[in-house]
Amino acid sequence: MSSVAEKFESMEYGPAPEASGPANAFLDKHGRKFGQFIDGEFRHARGATYFETFNPATGEVLASVCQGTDADVDAAVKAARVAQSGWWKIGPHERAKYLYAIARQMQKQARLFATLETLDNGKSIRETRDIDIPLVARHFYHHAGWAQLMATEMPDAKPVGVAGQIIPWNFPLLMLAWKIAPAIAMGNTVVLKPAEFTPLTALLFGELCQEIGLPHGVVNIITGDGSTGEAIVKHPDIDKIAFTGSTEVGRIIRRATAGTGKKLSLELGGKSPFIVFEDADLDSVVEGVVDAIWFNQGQVCCAGSRLLVQESIEARLLDKIRARMEKLRIGDPMDKTTDIGAIIDPVQLKRIEKLVAVGVAEGSKLWQPTGSCPKTGSFYPPTLFTDVQPASTIAQVEIFGPVLVSMTFRTPIEAVELANNTPYGLAASVWTENINLALDIAPAVKAGTIWVNCTNQFDAASGFGGYKESGFGREGGREGLWDYVKIPHVAARTKHPNQPPISSNGTGTSPAPIDRTAKLYIGGKQVRPDSGYSYNVVSPSGVVVGEAPDGNRKDARNAVEAARAAHKGWSRSSGHGRAQILYFLAENLGYRADEFATRLHQQTERSMAGCRDEVQVSIEQIFTFAALADKNEGAVHHTPMRAVTIAMPESIGVASVIAPTEYPLLGFLSATLPLIAMGNTVVAVASEKYPFSATDLYQVFETSDVPSGVFNILCGPEKALVETIAGHEDVDVVWHFGAAENVELLERLSASNMKRTWCPEVSRMDFTDATNAREMLREATQIKNIWVPYGDGIPGLS
Ligand code: NAI
Repeated sequence: MSSVAEKFESMEYGPAPEASGPANAFLDKHGRKFGQFIDGEFRHARGATYFETFNPATGEVLASVCQGTDADVDAAVKAARVAQSGWWKIGPHERAKYLYAIARQMQKQARLFATLETLDNGKSIRETRDIDIPLVARHFYHHAGWAQLMATEMPDAKPVGVAGQIIPWNFPLLMLAWKIAPAIAMGNTVVLKPAEFTPLTALLFGELCQEIGLPHGVVNIITGDGSTGEAIVKHPDIDKIAFTGSTEVGRIIRRATAGTGKKLSLELGGKSPFIVFEDADLDSVVEGVVDAIWFNQGQVCCAGSRLLVQESIEARLLDKIRARMEKLRIGDPMDKTTDIGAIIDPVQLKRIEKLVAVGVAEGSKLWQPTGSCPKTGSFYPPTLFTDVQPASTIAQVEIFGPVLVSMTFRTPIEAVELANNTPYGLAASVWTENINLALDIAPAVKAGTIWVNCTNQFDAASGFGGYKESGFGREGGREGLWDYVKIPHVAARTKHPNQPPISSNGTGTSPAPIDRTAKLYIGGKQVRPDSGYSYNVVSPSGVVVGEAPDGNRKDARNAVEAARAAHKGWSRSSGHGRAQILYFLAENLGYRADEFATRLHQQTERSMAGCRDEVQVSIEQIFTFAALADKNEGAVHHTPMRAVTIAMPESIGVASVIAPTEYPLLGFLSATLPLIAMGNTVVAVASEKYPFSATDLYQVFETSDVPSGVFNILCGPEKALVETIAGHEDVDVVWHFGAAENVELLERLSASNMKRTWCPEVSRMDFTDATNAREMLREATQIKNIWVPYGDGIPGLS
C-alpha cells in the first residue's frame, strides 16, 4: 500500500476540459458560414467564395468564412470613410464611452471568446482564458482612457483617417485589440483583416460591436488570405497600414506603400535572446524558459528562442530544463491542465519539422522529452538544441515553434555580441541577480523590449515593437498613439528664399567669387570626391558662385562607415555632453555670422538682411536642440505587474538626411540637429542647389569639438545619393526633405533592411516651431521598454 504522500506524488491529472457549448452555439447561430462585417452588418456578397477554418487540435471544420475580394475591401473602406468624420466629431468623451463599453462586454463574454479562440487557434485554454482575453479587455480599458484624454494630452493631434490593419494568427484577438483600440481611440475608423487560419474571434468581435451599438462603419472586418491583405494595402483611400506578421510580407508591404503617403507601422519577426548569467536564480530561469519558448507553442514573435547561457552553468541549467520539459503536458488545448496545445496548421508544422531537420543536418544536437504527442491534429513536442553554432540556420531563422536553441558565452561582452547577432531586434530577457549587470546589458542589446528577470510580459500601458528588421512603430502606451495620429506641420512664417534677386533691388553686397572647390566632409576630414569631379553652383540670376564636389556611391559608403564608427561613442555620451558641444557650435557660428550670411546671399541672392536673419535664427535653433538634448525624457509606465516599465528613448543609429533646399543653412541644421542631439550620427546630403552653407559648416564643426564621424556631409546629384543611401544596409533611418519625386524610390529601397524613413509633407515647415521640434525628436529616437522587477517581491515588506 502506498502512502497518501506517495499517491499524491504519483497521481495523474484527470482530464478537465472546458465546455465548448457557447462557442459552438455562436457558430451554429451563424449557420457556420460568415459574411464580411461591413458597416455594422454581416454581408454575403453575391457569388462570394468561402473557405473553411479548422480546429488545429482535431482537424475538424469549424466554419466557413468569405474570401475577401477587392469589392469587399472597397465597400469596407467606403463605410469606414463615411463613418470617420462622425466618429471624430462625437468627441473624446463619447469615443471613450464606446471603448469602455467594448472592454466591459469583452469581460462579460470572456469565456465565449476564450473558448472560441482556443478552438480556432489551438492554443491552450489556460492561455486564452488567463492571458489573451484579459489583456484584450485591458487594452480597450486603457485606450478608453486615451480617447478621453486625447484633446488635453495631445492637443495638436488629428486622426490619420481610415486605417487598414492586417494581423497574424498567433494572437488573433489580442492583435485585433492592439490594432483597433488605439486606432479608434484616436478618432480613426478601421478595416481589419484577421489571418486566414483564425478569423472567428474577429467575427465574434464584429457581433460585439453590434451589441454595444458602436456606430456603423467604425470597425469593419474583412476575412480572406494574403490577396485580401494585398487589396487593403493597395487601396487608394486608406491612410494608414498597420501590419503584424512575417518580415517577408512586411517587406512586400513596405514596397507596395512606397511613395503613396500612407502612414505605416510594421511589427515583424524576431529571434529574441534569453540571456542567463551564472548568478541567476536558476529555478526562476527554468520557469522563464517555459514562458519564453513554450508559451503559445513558441508561435510568438518575441519568443525567447535563443537561450544564451554562461558557460559555467550550462550543464546545470540544461539538466533542469530537460527535467522540466519532461513535465510539460501536450495535448487537448481545451483541457485546463494542458501546457502545450496545437500548432496552428499542418503547413506550420511542416515548416517547423523542416527547420529542425536542418538543425540536425548542420550538426546541432536535438533533445526531446520521452512523452508522445497526440496522433490526431497538429502537435509538436518541446525541443531543445545544443551544440549550436551562432551562424547556423536554427540560430538565425525564426522557427515559430516550440524549439529552443542553446548557445554559451563567457563574458557579458560575448553575451551582447551573440544577442545582437541577428537582423532582428524585437525583445530580449536578461537573467541575473546583479542589478548592475542587468542594467548594463539592457542598453547594449538592440531590441524594443528588455525584460529583466522576467519574460513575455505585455501590457496596454507599455509600447511594444521592434528595432532593425523587426519593424518600426509601437503598439501600446503613449508611444503607440503617435502611429494613429498626424500632427499638422506648422508652416514657416518667414519669407521664402526665392525672393527677388538682390541684383534687381540693389540691396546687399555683390557676390564674391569662391576661390576654391568645396570638399566633402567624412570622418572629421575634408575629402575630395572619389569621382574627382565637381559641379558648378549657379545663383538664381545665373552667376557661378563656386564648385561643389560630385559625391558618389563610394563617398556615401565611406561616410556611412565613419558614422557607424562614431555612433557607439556619441550615443553613449550624455545629453548634457552633447548639449555642450552644440552650444559651442552655436557660439562659433555666431563669430562667423557675417561670412555665413554672405554665402547665403551669394547662393540665393536674397537680401543680406534676410540672410543675416537666417543665420541668427539658425544659431537660435542650435540652442533649441542643445537645450532639448537632455530633455527628451522617457517615461515610467504603470504596468499592473510586479514591475516598473521604463520607456527610454534611444538613438536609432546611423541617420541620413536629405537636406531641404529652402533655407540652405537653417534647413540643413534643423534637419540634422534633432538627430545629432538624440545621439544618432549623421550622413547629410547637402542641398544640390545651395550646398555651400552646409560645406562651410565643417570648419565650424572642427572648432566646436564635434567628434569625428558624428557629422558627415555629402554633396552631389540628389537622386543618385538617395538611391545609394536607401539601399545601404548599414543606414538605420533616413529623413527626406528633398525632391518629392524621390520619396517613392527611397521608401521602396529602404525595405532591404527595413530602415525607418521620415518624409514630412511640408518642405517649408517652420523648423523653429516647438510643435515641429517635438515631432522631430520622436522621429529621431526609438523607444525601448525595460521591465524591471519592482516591489511586492518580499511578502510582509511594507
Ligand atoms: P504572414 O506574414 O504571411 O501572414 C500575416 C498576415 O498577413 C495574414 O493576415 C496574411 O493573410 C497577411 N498577408 C499575407 N501576405 C500578404 C500580402 N502580400 N499583403 C498583405 N497581407 C498579406 O505569416 P504566415 O504565412 O501566416 O506565417 C509565416 C511565418 O511568418 C511564420 O512561420 C512566422 O515565422 C512568421 N510570422 C510572424 C508573426 C509575428 O508576429 N512576428 C506572426 C505570424 C507569422
